[in-house]
Amino acid sequence: MALAQHAKRVAAEFDYGKEDLQRGVAEFIREMDAGLKTEVATLSQIPTYVTAVPNGTEKGLYMAVDLGGTNFRVCSIQLHGDTTFSLTQSKVAIPKELMAAKTSKELFSFLAKQIEIFLQAHHEEHYASHVERKRKGNEVAEEEIFNLGFTFSFPVKQIGINKGLLMRWTKGFDIKETVGQDVCALLQEEIDLLHLPVRVAALVNDTVGTLMARSYTSPGKTGTLLGAIFGTGTNGAYVEKLDKVTKLTEDKNAGSYDKSTGEMIVNTEWGSFDNGLKVLPNTPYDIALDEATPNPGIQMFEKRISGMFLGELLRLALVGLYKDAAVPLFKDENSSQNDISSVTHVDGNGPLFKPWGIDTSLLSICAGDQSQGLRVIRQTLEREYGVSAVSAEDAEAVREIAAAIGRRAARLAAVAIAAIVLETGRLEKSTGVVEEDVIDVGVDGSLVEFYPNFEEFMREALRGVEGIGEAGEKRIRIGIAKDGSGVFEILWKWEGIKNMGAIRYELGDGRKGVSGGGAYYIGWGMGSVGSGHVTASGN
Ligand code: BGC
Repeated sequence: MALAQHAKRVAAEFDYGKEDLQRGVAEFIREMDAGLKTEVATLSQIPTYVTAVPNGTEKGLYMAVDLGGTNFRVCSIQLHGDTTFSLTQSKVAIPKELMAAKTSKELFSFLAKQIEIFLQAHHEEHYASHVERKRKGNEVAEEEIFNLGFTFSFPVKQIGINKGLLMRWTKGFDIKETVGQDVCALLQEEIDLLHLPVRVAALVNDTVGTLMARSYTSPGKTGTLLGAIFGTGTNGAYVEKLDKVTKLTEDKNAGSYDKSTGEMIVNTEWGSFDNGLKVLPNTPYDIALDEATPNPGIQMFEKRISGMFLGELLRLALVGLYKDAAVPLFKDENSSQNDISSVTHVDGNGPLFKPWGIDTSLLSICAGDQSQGLRVIRQTLEREYGVSAVSAEDAEAVREIAAAIGRRAARLAAVAIAAIVLETGRLEKSTGVVEEDVIDVGVDGSLVEFYPNFEEFMREALRGVEGIGEAGEKRIRIGIAKDGSGVFEILWKWEGIKNMGAIRYELGDGRKGVSGGGAYYIGWGMGSVGSGHVTASGN
Protein backbone atom coordinates (compact mmCIF):
# COMPACT_ATOMS: atom_id res chain seq x y z
CA MET A 1 0.00 0.00 0.00
CA ALA A 2 1.31 3.46 -0.81
CA LEU A 3 2.15 5.80 2.04
CA ALA A 4 -0.71 8.13 1.09
CA GLN A 5 -3.22 5.35 1.64
CA HIS A 6 -1.81 4.53 5.07
CA ALA A 7 -2.00 8.19 6.00
CA LYS A 8 -5.63 8.38 4.83
CA ARG A 9 -6.46 5.29 6.88
CA VAL A 10 -5.00 6.83 10.06
CA ALA A 11 -6.57 10.22 9.34
CA ALA A 12 -9.96 8.53 8.97
CA GLU A 13 -9.64 7.21 12.51
CA PHE A 14 -10.00 10.85 13.60
CA ASP A 15 -13.22 11.44 11.65
CA TYR A 16 -15.95 12.96 13.74
CA GLY A 17 -19.08 12.97 11.64
CA LYS A 18 -22.49 14.60 11.78
CA GLU A 19 -24.11 11.86 13.81
CA ASP A 20 -21.28 11.88 16.33
CA LEU A 21 -21.77 15.62 16.68
CA GLN A 22 -25.45 15.20 17.32
CA ARG A 23 -24.91 12.59 20.00
CA GLY A 24 -22.17 14.73 21.53
CA VAL A 25 -24.39 17.80 21.79
CA ALA A 26 -27.29 15.82 23.32
CA GLU A 27 -25.01 14.30 25.95
CA PHE A 28 -23.37 17.65 26.67
CA ILE A 29 -26.77 19.25 27.33
CA ARG A 30 -27.70 16.34 29.60
CA GLU A 31 -24.47 16.71 31.58
CA MET A 32 -24.89 20.50 31.80
CA ASP A 33 -28.30 20.10 33.40
CA ALA A 34 -27.05 17.41 35.77
CA GLY A 35 -24.14 19.63 36.82
CA LEU A 36 -26.45 22.52 37.69
CA LYS A 37 -28.39 20.30 40.07
CA THR A 38 -25.77 18.27 41.86
CA GLU A 39 -22.17 18.36 43.01
CA VAL A 40 -21.49 14.85 41.78
CA ALA A 41 -21.77 15.34 38.02
CA THR A 42 -19.02 14.97 35.40
CA LEU A 43 -19.53 18.55 34.26
CA SER A 44 -18.73 20.52 37.41
CA GLN A 45 -20.81 23.61 36.50
CA ILE A 46 -19.23 25.73 39.24
CA PRO A 47 -21.08 28.87 40.34
CA THR A 48 -18.45 31.63 40.34
CA TYR A 49 -19.77 34.22 42.83
CA VAL A 50 -18.37 36.65 40.35
CA THR A 51 -20.48 39.55 41.57
CA ALA A 52 -18.76 39.75 44.94
CA VAL A 53 -16.86 42.95 45.45
CA PRO A 54 -13.66 43.31 47.48
CA ASN A 55 -13.24 46.57 49.34
CA GLY A 56 -11.04 49.11 47.69
CA THR A 57 -10.56 52.72 46.93
CA GLU A 58 -9.56 54.64 43.87
CA LYS A 59 -6.11 55.21 45.28
CA GLY A 60 -3.37 52.70 45.81
CA LEU A 61 -1.55 49.83 44.26
CA TYR A 62 -3.33 46.68 43.15
CA MET A 63 -1.86 43.46 41.91
CA ALA A 64 -2.86 40.48 39.80
CA VAL A 65 -1.27 37.11 39.19
CA ASP A 66 -2.17 34.38 36.72
CA LEU A 67 -1.33 30.69 37.03
CA GLY A 68 -2.66 29.08 33.89
CA GLY A 69 -0.43 26.26 32.75
CA THR A 70 2.91 27.07 31.25
CA ASN A 71 3.57 30.51 32.72
CA PHE A 72 3.06 32.56 35.83
CA ARG A 73 2.32 36.21 35.26
CA VAL A 74 2.41 39.06 37.74
CA CYS A 75 1.14 42.59 37.23
CA SER A 76 0.44 45.69 39.23
CA ILE A 77 -1.98 48.52 38.68
CA GLN A 78 -1.38 51.88 40.26
CA LEU A 79 -4.47 53.97 40.81
CA HIS A 80 -3.31 57.56 40.92
CA GLY A 81 -6.41 58.86 42.60
CA ASP A 82 -7.23 61.21 39.76
CA THR A 83 -9.02 58.44 37.83
CA THR A 84 -5.85 57.39 36.06
CA PHE A 85 -3.79 54.30 36.65
CA SER A 86 -0.64 52.62 35.32
CA LEU A 87 0.03 48.98 34.68
CA THR A 88 3.21 46.86 34.69
CA GLN A 89 3.68 43.13 34.22
CA SER A 90 6.17 40.27 34.09
CA LYS A 91 6.01 36.61 33.06
CA VAL A 92 8.04 33.55 34.06
CA ALA A 93 7.85 29.92 32.93
CA ILE A 94 6.85 27.45 35.66
CA PRO A 95 9.70 24.97 36.20
CA LYS A 96 8.50 21.49 35.20
CA GLU A 97 9.55 19.92 38.52
CA LEU A 98 7.24 22.26 40.41
CA MET A 99 4.21 21.13 38.40
CA ALA A 100 4.57 17.70 39.96
CA ALA A 101 6.17 18.69 43.26
CA LYS A 102 5.72 16.65 46.45
CA THR A 103 4.29 19.54 48.45
CA SER A 104 2.08 22.54 47.72
CA LYS A 105 4.68 24.68 49.42
CA GLU A 106 7.23 24.09 46.68
CA LEU A 107 4.91 25.58 44.06
CA PHE A 108 3.27 28.30 46.12
CA SER A 109 6.54 29.52 47.66
CA PHE A 110 7.87 29.85 44.11
CA LEU A 111 4.82 31.93 43.18
CA ALA A 112 5.20 34.15 46.23
CA LYS A 113 8.89 34.56 45.41
CA GLN A 114 7.95 35.81 41.93
CA ILE A 115 5.64 38.36 43.53
CA GLU A 116 8.53 39.48 45.74
CA ILE A 117 10.89 39.77 42.76
CA PHE A 118 8.24 41.76 40.91
CA LEU A 119 7.74 44.11 43.84
CA GLN A 120 11.48 44.62 44.21
CA ALA A 121 11.86 45.33 40.51
CA HIS A 122 8.86 47.59 40.03
CA HIS A 123 7.85 48.88 43.45
CA GLU A 124 11.15 49.03 45.29
CA GLU A 125 10.25 52.05 47.38
CA HIS A 126 6.94 50.68 48.53
CA TYR A 127 8.45 47.26 49.14
CA ALA A 128 11.48 48.48 51.10
CA SER A 129 9.53 50.81 53.37
CA HIS A 130 7.07 48.02 54.12
CA VAL A 131 9.80 45.55 55.04
CA GLU A 132 11.49 48.21 57.16
CA ARG A 133 8.29 48.92 59.06
CA LYS A 134 7.73 45.20 59.61
CA ARG A 135 11.30 44.87 60.84
CA LYS A 136 10.69 47.55 63.44
CA GLY A 137 7.56 45.72 64.50
CA ASN A 138 5.32 48.59 63.42
CA GLU A 139 1.75 48.18 62.24
CA VAL A 140 1.13 48.24 58.51
CA ALA A 141 -1.56 50.65 57.42
CA GLU A 142 -4.46 49.18 55.46
CA GLU A 143 -3.78 51.37 52.44
CA GLU A 144 -0.23 50.01 52.24
CA ILE A 145 -1.49 46.56 51.31
CA PHE A 146 -1.90 45.47 47.69
CA ASN A 147 -5.17 43.74 46.93
CA LEU A 148 -4.27 40.85 44.66
CA GLY A 149 -6.51 39.21 42.05
CA PHE A 150 -5.61 35.57 41.51
CA THR A 151 -6.47 34.06 38.11
CA PHE A 152 -6.13 30.35 38.79
CA SER A 153 -7.03 28.25 35.76
CA PHE A 154 -7.81 24.89 37.29
CA PRO A 155 -11.06 23.43 38.61
CA VAL A 156 -11.82 25.04 41.94
CA LYS A 157 -14.92 24.78 44.09
CA GLN A 158 -15.42 28.42 44.79
CA ILE A 159 -16.85 29.18 48.20
CA GLY A 160 -16.33 32.89 48.26
CA ILE A 161 -14.70 35.62 46.22
CA ASN A 162 -11.24 34.82 47.66
CA LYS A 163 -11.70 31.24 48.80
CA GLY A 164 -11.70 28.15 46.60
CA LEU A 165 -10.83 24.50 47.08
CA LEU A 166 -8.84 22.78 44.35
CA MET A 167 -10.95 19.92 42.95
CA ARG A 168 -8.25 18.38 40.79
CA TRP A 169 -5.16 19.40 38.88
CA THR A 170 -5.16 19.39 35.06
CA LYS A 171 -2.70 20.15 32.23
CA GLY A 172 0.13 18.03 33.63
CA PHE A 173 0.14 19.52 37.14
CA ASP A 174 0.14 16.83 39.81
CA ILE A 175 0.69 17.87 43.42
CA LYS A 176 -1.51 15.51 45.39
CA GLU A 177 -1.35 17.46 48.62
CA THR A 178 -3.01 20.55 47.09
CA VAL A 179 -6.26 18.81 46.15
CA GLY A 180 -9.01 19.89 48.55
CA GLN A 181 -6.98 22.88 49.79
CA ASP A 182 -7.89 26.56 49.53
CA VAL A 183 -5.48 27.87 46.91
CA CYS A 184 -5.88 31.48 48.05
CA ALA A 185 -4.86 30.53 51.58
CA LEU A 186 -1.86 28.57 50.28
CA LEU A 187 -0.66 31.58 48.34
CA GLN A 188 -1.38 33.95 51.22
CA GLU A 189 0.64 31.82 53.62
CA GLU A 190 3.74 32.01 51.43
CA ILE A 191 3.24 35.73 50.80
CA ASP A 192 3.09 36.28 54.56
CA LEU A 193 6.25 34.28 55.15
CA LEU A 194 8.04 36.74 52.88
CA HIS A 195 6.39 39.66 54.74
CA LEU A 196 5.03 41.02 51.47
CA PRO A 197 2.40 43.77 51.63
CA VAL A 198 -0.08 41.71 49.60
CA ARG A 199 -3.55 40.33 50.31
CA VAL A 200 -5.17 37.72 48.03
CA ALA A 201 -8.50 39.47 47.47
CA ALA A 202 -10.20 37.66 44.60
CA LEU A 203 -10.04 34.33 42.77
CA VAL A 204 -11.19 33.81 39.16
CA ASN A 205 -10.90 31.19 36.44
CA ASP A 206 -9.44 32.30 33.09
CA THR A 207 -12.70 31.51 31.28
CA VAL A 208 -14.57 33.91 33.53
CA GLY A 209 -11.96 36.55 32.73
CA THR A 210 -12.41 35.89 29.03
CA LEU A 211 -16.20 36.13 29.29
CA MET A 212 -16.10 39.41 31.19
CA ALA A 213 -13.42 40.93 28.97
CA ARG A 214 -15.30 40.03 25.83
CA SER A 215 -18.65 41.14 27.22
CA TYR A 216 -17.14 44.46 28.19
CA THR A 217 -15.58 45.14 24.81
CA SER A 218 -17.77 43.30 22.30
CA PRO A 219 -19.52 45.47 19.79
CA GLY A 220 -23.19 46.35 20.32
CA LYS A 221 -25.46 46.14 23.32
CA THR A 222 -25.73 42.37 23.53
CA GLY A 223 -23.87 40.80 26.44
CA THR A 224 -21.55 37.89 25.78
CA LEU A 225 -22.99 34.43 26.42
CA LEU A 226 -19.84 32.38 26.68
CA GLY A 227 -16.13 32.78 27.35
CA ALA A 228 -14.07 29.84 26.14
CA ILE A 229 -10.41 28.89 26.25
CA PHE A 230 -8.84 26.68 23.60
CA GLY A 231 -5.21 26.82 24.66
CA THR A 232 -3.01 24.49 26.72
CA GLY A 233 -6.30 23.37 28.28
CA THR A 234 -9.91 23.95 27.34
CA ASN A 235 -12.91 25.17 29.27
CA GLY A 236 -15.86 27.56 29.11
CA ALA A 237 -17.84 29.83 31.42
CA TYR A 238 -21.31 31.06 30.45
CA VAL A 239 -24.20 33.13 31.69
CA GLU A 240 -26.87 30.88 33.19
CA LYS A 241 -30.28 31.69 34.65
CA LEU A 242 -29.85 31.73 38.39
CA ASP A 243 -32.98 29.70 39.05
CA LYS A 244 -31.54 26.82 37.03
CA VAL A 245 -28.46 26.66 39.27
CA THR A 246 -30.42 24.79 41.92
CA LYS A 247 -27.38 23.30 43.62
CA LEU A 248 -26.58 26.88 44.63
CA THR A 249 -30.03 28.38 45.14
CA GLU A 250 -31.19 25.44 47.24
CA ASP A 251 -28.00 25.20 49.27
CA LYS A 252 -28.52 26.79 52.68
CA ASN A 253 -24.78 26.90 53.27
CA ALA A 254 -23.98 28.74 50.04
CA GLY A 255 -22.05 31.98 50.38
CA SER A 256 -23.89 35.23 49.64
CA TYR A 257 -24.33 36.38 46.07
CA ASP A 258 -26.11 39.11 44.19
CA LYS A 259 -29.55 37.88 43.08
CA SER A 260 -30.67 41.05 41.34
CA THR A 261 -29.67 40.11 37.81
CA GLY A 262 -31.29 36.66 37.97
CA GLU A 263 -28.13 35.33 36.34
CA MET A 264 -24.94 33.66 37.45
CA ILE A 265 -21.74 32.98 35.57
CA VAL A 266 -21.10 29.27 35.65
CA ASN A 267 -17.67 27.73 35.07
CA THR A 268 -18.54 24.49 33.28
CA GLU A 269 -15.09 22.80 33.56
CA TRP A 270 -16.01 21.11 30.29
CA GLY A 271 -12.56 19.55 30.04
CA SER A 272 -14.10 16.68 31.96
CA PHE A 273 -17.14 16.30 29.70
CA ASP A 274 -17.94 12.62 29.14
CA ASN A 275 -15.12 11.16 31.20
CA GLY A 276 -17.12 7.94 30.94
CA LEU A 277 -16.61 7.96 27.14
CA LYS A 278 -20.27 7.43 26.30
CA VAL A 279 -20.05 9.52 23.18
CA LEU A 280 -16.48 10.77 22.75
CA PRO A 281 -14.35 9.23 20.02
CA ASN A 282 -11.64 6.93 21.34
CA THR A 283 -8.84 5.92 18.98
CA PRO A 284 -5.87 3.77 20.04
CA TYR A 285 -3.86 7.04 20.16
CA ASP A 286 -6.35 8.61 22.59
CA ILE A 287 -6.08 5.52 24.78
CA ALA A 288 -2.26 5.52 24.77
CA LEU A 289 -2.13 9.25 25.48
CA ASP A 290 -4.53 9.02 28.39
CA GLU A 291 -2.53 6.21 29.97
CA ALA A 292 0.61 8.33 29.91
CA THR A 293 -0.97 11.25 31.81
CA PRO A 294 -0.95 11.73 35.59
CA ASN A 295 -4.79 11.77 35.53
CA PRO A 296 -6.00 8.84 33.40
CA GLY A 297 -9.77 8.76 32.84
CA ILE A 298 -10.12 12.47 33.69
CA GLN A 299 -10.34 15.53 31.39
CA MET A 300 -11.19 13.25 28.48
CA PHE A 301 -12.75 16.05 26.40
CA GLU A 302 -9.73 18.28 27.01
CA LYS A 303 -7.36 15.48 25.98
CA ARG A 304 -8.98 15.43 22.54
CA ILE A 305 -9.12 19.18 22.03
CA SER A 306 -6.45 21.25 23.69
CA GLY A 307 -2.93 22.33 22.85
CA MET A 308 -1.26 20.29 25.52
CA PHE A 309 -2.39 17.05 23.87
CA LEU A 310 -2.77 17.39 20.10
CA GLY A 311 0.97 17.21 19.40
CA GLU A 312 1.20 14.01 21.39
CA LEU A 313 -1.70 12.45 19.45
CA LEU A 314 0.17 13.24 16.24
CA ARG A 315 3.39 11.80 17.64
CA LEU A 316 1.69 8.56 18.66
CA ALA A 317 0.08 8.20 15.23
CA LEU A 318 3.39 8.85 13.42
CA VAL A 319 5.40 6.50 15.61
CA GLY A 320 2.76 3.81 15.04
CA LEU A 321 3.19 4.14 11.27
CA TYR A 322 6.96 4.39 11.45
CA LYS A 323 7.29 1.23 13.49
CA ASP A 324 5.18 -0.70 11.00
CA ALA A 325 7.72 -2.19 8.57
CA ALA A 326 5.05 -2.34 5.87
CA VAL A 327 4.56 1.44 5.91
CA PRO A 328 7.10 3.52 4.00
CA LEU A 329 7.02 6.55 6.33
CA PHE A 330 10.41 8.25 6.84
CA LYS A 331 12.06 5.34 5.04
CA ASP A 332 14.57 5.56 2.24
CA GLU A 333 12.39 4.36 -0.61
CA ASN A 334 10.33 7.51 -0.41
CA SER A 335 13.22 9.89 -0.40
CA SER A 336 13.57 10.22 -4.14
CA GLN A 337 12.46 13.84 -4.02
CA ASN A 338 14.56 14.93 -1.10
CA ASP A 339 16.21 18.25 -1.58
CA ILE A 340 18.42 18.02 1.48
CA SER A 341 20.10 14.63 1.12
CA SER A 342 19.06 11.41 -0.46
CA VAL A 343 18.70 9.36 2.69
CA THR A 344 16.13 10.05 5.34
CA HIS A 345 17.54 9.82 8.81
CA VAL A 346 15.44 9.41 11.93
CA ASP A 347 17.15 10.18 15.25
CA GLY A 348 16.14 7.27 17.50
CA ASN A 349 16.68 9.45 20.56
CA GLY A 350 14.99 12.50 19.05
CA PRO A 351 11.74 14.19 20.08
CA LEU A 352 9.72 11.88 17.82
CA PHE A 353 10.38 9.04 20.24
CA LYS A 354 9.99 11.01 23.46
CA PRO A 355 6.58 11.23 25.11
CA TRP A 356 5.23 14.77 24.61
CA GLY A 357 8.12 15.33 22.17
CA ILE A 358 5.93 16.95 19.50
CA ASP A 359 4.52 20.37 20.17
CA THR A 360 1.03 21.27 19.01
CA SER A 361 2.58 24.11 17.03
CA LEU A 362 3.61 21.45 14.49
CA LEU A 363 -0.09 20.96 13.70
CA SER A 364 -0.44 24.68 13.06
CA ILE A 365 2.67 24.62 10.87
CA CYS A 366 1.25 21.70 8.89
CA ALA A 367 -2.09 23.44 8.44
CA GLY A 368 -0.41 26.63 7.28
CA ASP A 369 2.22 25.25 4.91
CA GLN A 370 1.42 26.46 1.40
CA SER A 371 4.95 25.99 0.07
CA GLN A 372 5.81 23.80 -2.85
CA GLY A 373 6.67 20.25 -1.81
CA LEU A 374 5.69 21.18 1.76
CA ARG A 375 9.12 22.59 2.38
CA VAL A 376 8.20 24.22 5.69
CA ILE A 377 6.97 20.95 7.18
CA ARG A 378 10.08 19.14 5.98
CA GLN A 379 12.38 21.76 7.42
CA THR A 380 10.54 21.78 10.74
CA LEU A 381 10.77 17.99 11.00
CA GLU A 382 14.49 18.24 10.41
CA ARG A 383 15.24 21.21 12.60
CA GLU A 384 13.05 20.42 15.56
CA TYR A 385 12.15 16.77 15.50
CA GLY A 386 15.26 14.90 14.44
CA VAL A 387 13.84 13.57 11.16
CA SER A 388 16.07 14.78 8.36
CA ALA A 389 15.71 14.73 4.59
CA VAL A 390 12.10 13.60 4.53
CA SER A 391 10.37 13.26 1.21
CA ALA A 392 7.41 15.31 0.03
CA GLU A 393 5.28 12.16 0.41
CA ASP A 394 6.35 11.85 4.04
CA ALA A 395 5.50 15.50 4.67
CA GLU A 396 2.13 15.03 2.96
CA ALA A 397 1.37 12.06 5.23
CA VAL A 398 2.24 14.09 8.33
CA ARG A 399 0.11 16.97 7.04
CA GLU A 400 -2.88 14.72 6.40
CA ILE A 401 -2.84 13.14 9.86
CA ALA A 402 -2.18 16.46 11.62
CA ALA A 403 -5.12 18.03 9.77
CA ALA A 404 -7.44 15.22 10.84
CA ILE A 405 -6.44 15.67 14.51
CA GLY A 406 -6.91 19.45 14.31
CA ARG A 407 -10.25 19.18 12.55
CA ARG A 408 -11.57 16.67 15.09
CA ALA A 409 -10.51 19.01 17.91
CA ALA A 410 -12.38 21.93 16.35
CA ARG A 411 -15.51 19.84 15.73
CA LEU A 412 -15.46 18.64 19.34
CA ALA A 413 -15.05 22.24 20.48
CA ALA A 414 -18.21 23.03 18.50
CA VAL A 415 -20.09 20.42 20.54
CA ALA A 416 -19.59 22.52 23.67
CA ILE A 417 -20.51 25.80 21.98
CA ALA A 418 -23.60 24.31 20.31
CA ALA A 419 -24.81 22.73 23.54
CA ILE A 420 -24.51 26.00 25.48
CA VAL A 421 -26.24 28.00 22.76
CA LEU A 422 -29.09 25.47 22.65
CA GLU A 423 -29.38 24.90 26.41
CA THR A 424 -29.61 28.61 27.19
CA GLY A 425 -32.39 29.02 24.61
CA ARG A 426 -30.66 32.00 23.00
CA LEU A 427 -31.68 30.98 19.50
CA GLU A 428 -35.34 30.89 20.44
CA LYS A 429 -35.31 34.63 21.11
CA SER A 430 -35.27 36.88 18.11
CA THR A 431 -36.04 40.56 17.81
CA GLY A 432 -35.69 40.55 14.05
CA VAL A 433 -32.89 43.13 14.38
CA VAL A 434 -29.71 41.47 13.18
CA GLU A 435 -27.35 43.22 15.63
CA GLU A 436 -29.52 42.42 18.61
CA ASP A 437 -29.93 38.79 17.65
CA VAL A 438 -26.21 38.18 17.79
CA ILE A 439 -25.05 35.46 20.18
CA ASP A 440 -21.63 36.60 21.27
CA VAL A 441 -18.87 34.17 22.20
CA GLY A 442 -15.44 35.27 23.44
CA VAL A 443 -12.52 32.93 22.86
CA ASP A 444 -8.86 32.91 23.77
CA GLY A 445 -5.93 30.50 23.69
CA SER A 446 -3.18 29.35 21.37
CA LEU A 447 -5.38 27.04 19.28
CA VAL A 448 -7.96 29.61 18.28
CA GLU A 449 -5.24 32.14 17.85
CA PHE A 450 -2.66 30.17 15.89
CA TYR A 451 -4.28 27.08 14.37
CA PRO A 452 -5.35 28.11 10.88
CA ASN A 453 -9.07 27.60 10.29
CA PHE A 454 -9.89 26.43 13.81
CA GLU A 455 -12.88 28.77 13.84
CA GLU A 456 -13.95 27.76 10.34
CA PHE A 457 -13.90 24.09 11.31
CA MET A 458 -15.96 24.90 14.39
CA ARG A 459 -18.44 26.82 12.27
CA GLU A 460 -18.73 24.02 9.74
CA ALA A 461 -19.63 21.70 12.61
CA LEU A 462 -22.09 24.19 14.12
CA ARG A 463 -23.97 24.38 10.81
CA GLY A 464 -24.40 20.63 10.98
CA VAL A 465 -25.98 20.60 14.44
CA GLU A 466 -29.75 20.14 14.55
CA GLY A 467 -31.41 23.20 16.00
CA ILE A 468 -28.55 25.47 14.91
CA GLY A 469 -28.11 24.96 11.17
CA GLU A 470 -26.97 27.64 8.75
CA ALA A 471 -29.26 30.33 10.14
CA GLY A 472 -28.24 29.71 13.75
CA GLU A 473 -24.55 29.54 12.94
CA LYS A 474 -24.76 32.97 11.29
CA ARG A 475 -26.09 34.44 14.53
CA ILE A 476 -23.13 33.19 16.53
CA ARG A 477 -20.37 35.77 16.63
CA ILE A 478 -17.02 34.46 17.79
CA GLY A 479 -14.44 37.03 18.84
CA ILE A 480 -10.99 36.70 20.26
CA ALA A 481 -11.02 38.20 23.73
CA LYS A 482 -7.41 39.16 23.55
CA ASP A 483 -6.06 41.91 25.70
CA GLY A 484 -3.73 43.07 22.93
CA SER A 485 -6.55 44.80 21.10
CA GLY A 486 -7.32 46.89 24.13
CA VAL A 487 -9.18 44.11 25.87
CA PHE A 488 -8.09 43.64 29.42
CA GLU A 489 -8.11 40.28 31.00
CA ILE A 490 -10.56 40.78 33.76
CA LEU A 491 -9.41 40.18 37.25
CA TRP A 492 -11.64 41.74 39.79
CA LYS A 493 -13.83 44.67 40.39
CA TRP A 494 -14.21 47.05 43.23
CA GLU A 495 -16.49 49.89 44.07
CA GLY A 496 -13.94 52.60 43.44
CA ILE A 497 -13.73 51.77 39.79
CA LYS A 498 -17.33 50.79 39.39
CA ASN A 499 -18.55 54.29 38.90
CA MET A 500 -15.96 55.29 36.41
CA GLY A 501 -16.75 55.84 32.79
CA ALA A 502 -14.76 54.78 29.80
CA ILE A 503 -11.37 53.17 30.22
CA ARG A 504 -8.61 54.81 28.28
CA TYR A 505 -5.72 52.55 27.59
CA GLU A 506 -2.24 52.92 26.28
CA LEU A 507 -0.39 49.64 25.89
CA GLY A 508 3.32 48.91 25.92
CA ASP A 509 3.53 48.72 22.14
CA GLY A 510 1.99 52.12 21.70
CA ARG A 511 -1.58 51.10 20.94
CA LYS A 512 -4.13 53.41 22.47
CA GLY A 513 -7.87 53.58 22.66
CA VAL A 514 -10.99 53.86 24.74
CA SER A 515 -12.98 50.81 25.76
CA GLY A 516 -16.67 51.12 26.43
CA GLY A 517 -18.32 52.81 29.38
CA GLY A 518 -19.26 51.79 32.90
CA ALA A 519 -16.01 49.97 33.28
CA TYR A 520 -15.39 48.32 36.55
CA TYR A 521 -13.11 45.50 35.69
CA ILE A 522 -9.38 45.75 35.40
CA GLY A 523 -6.88 43.39 33.96
CA TRP A 524 -3.80 43.47 31.89
CA GLY A 525 -2.43 43.16 28.43
CA MET A 526 -0.28 40.09 28.02
CA GLY A 527 1.95 38.31 25.54
CA SER A 528 3.28 40.61 22.92
CA VAL A 529 1.84 43.66 24.57
CA GLY A 530 4.36 43.83 27.39
CA SER A 531 3.88 46.37 30.09
CA GLY A 532 1.60 49.21 29.38
CA HIS A 533 -0.13 52.15 30.78
CA VAL A 534 -3.85 52.32 31.34
CA THR A 535 -5.92 55.25 32.37
CA ALA A 536 -9.55 55.30 33.35
CA SER A 537 -11.47 58.50 32.97
CA GLY A 538 -14.37 59.37 35.20
CA ASN A 539 -17.56 60.77 33.73
C1 BGC B 1 -8.83 23.81 33.61
C2 BGC B 1 -9.75 25.00 33.56
C3 BGC B 1 -9.16 26.09 32.68
C4 BGC B 1 -8.77 25.52 31.32
C5 BGC B 1 -8.16 26.55 30.41
C6 BGC B 1 -8.42 23.38 32.21
O1 BGC B 1 -7.46 22.37 32.30
O2 BGC B 1 -9.46 22.72 34.25
O3 BGC B 1 -10.02 25.50 34.84
O4 BGC B 1 -10.11 27.10 32.52
O5 BGC B 1 -7.85 24.46 31.49
O6 BGC B 1 -7.03 27.15 30.96
